[in-house]
Amino acid sequence: MEEKIIELLKDKQEYLSGEELSGALKVSRQALWKHINFLRDLGYDIAAVPHLGYRLVSVPDRLYDFQVYQGLKTKSFGRRMIYFDSLSSTMDMATNLALKGAKEGTAVLAETQTKGRGRLGRVWHSPKYKGLYFSLILRPKISLDKASIITLLAGVSICEAVKEILGLGLQIKWPNDILMHNKKLGGILTEIKAEVDEVNFIIIGVGLNINNDSKTLISGSTSLKECKSEQVSRLAILQEVFYRLEVNYHILEKNGPKAIIEKWRQFAITLGRRVKVYSHKEHLEGEAFDIDSDGGLLIRNDSGITHKVLSGDILYCR
Ligand code: BTN
Repeated sequence: MEEKIIELLKDKQEYLSGEELSGALKVSRQALWKHINFLRDLGYDIAAVPHLGYRLVSVPDRLYDFQVYQGLKTKSFGRRMIYFDSLSSTMDMATNLALKGAKEGTAVLAETQTKGRGRLGRVWHSPKYKGLYFSLILRPKISLDKASIITLLAGVSICEAVKEILGLGLQIKWPNDILMHNKKLGGILTEIKAEVDEVNFIIIGVGLNINNDSKTLISGSTSLKECKSEQVSRLAILQEVFYRLEVNYHILEKNGPKAIIEKWRQFAITLGRRVKVYSHKEHLEGEAFDIDSDGGLLIRNDSGITHKVLSGDILYCR
């Protein structure tokens, strides 16, 4: 109902009479009044003038589910989105929902996280109303050893979305750091539930710094607002990221990992560089020369031996 009211008021741009509005919604004037007040409580500025009706003055910078659904171009990704003003971590909530059978494409989004987590046990700072923090449930029909491709797919989708909305060229540092001018703008956390070799579900967690200013950025990181020198619509970015994730997911299903890797190369800054890798298994140094079809980074060490790294952190040597 709220979604419809906002849509009608947005379309009209001027005053829409109570009669017209309640008629279109098929509810009584009294019920309409309750919905209008509910929207006001959510932060919508709706003017009400006797004999004229209602006018939408401004919308709040919030990522309410019904706002996100409006104008969303996807078939399933983000079509069911569970919104929280605050949550410990969207990863845990999404995992619980997935365990209970939530459909592919279900998303959990929070305006802030009190225990947002990054890779390798790091903390993900999630200042309120500044960034995007969401987790998406996927149920791909792939084996566990091929699952890393999903992280690359998410990176590509974020870069494409930001290019489309803001015209900014972001970069990806393998496997999942989203960078701008060598500063971290976002990250992707992929958590997998698998049985034997078969993936049960994958949760992709996306954290993006959008409207952070220097006070809410940690050192070495940046935000889209900083890059553009203006406030950015979190809503537009979120909707486009959902869309690109869905498009690329279908490309992966239809054409296989190669198509995603080709796209990934366009944004990658890791290939051709001398790197040091730190993972729980090994410490390795050499040239990162390619990506394997499962998303693993191929590194040639100084003895000419090729190693494939599937997870870990890399440092550029020069
Ligand atoms: C990284 O770069 O280390 C990955 C960061 C991923 C952060 C996101 S924010 C939404 C989701 N919920 C979490 O607790 N983490 C991910």
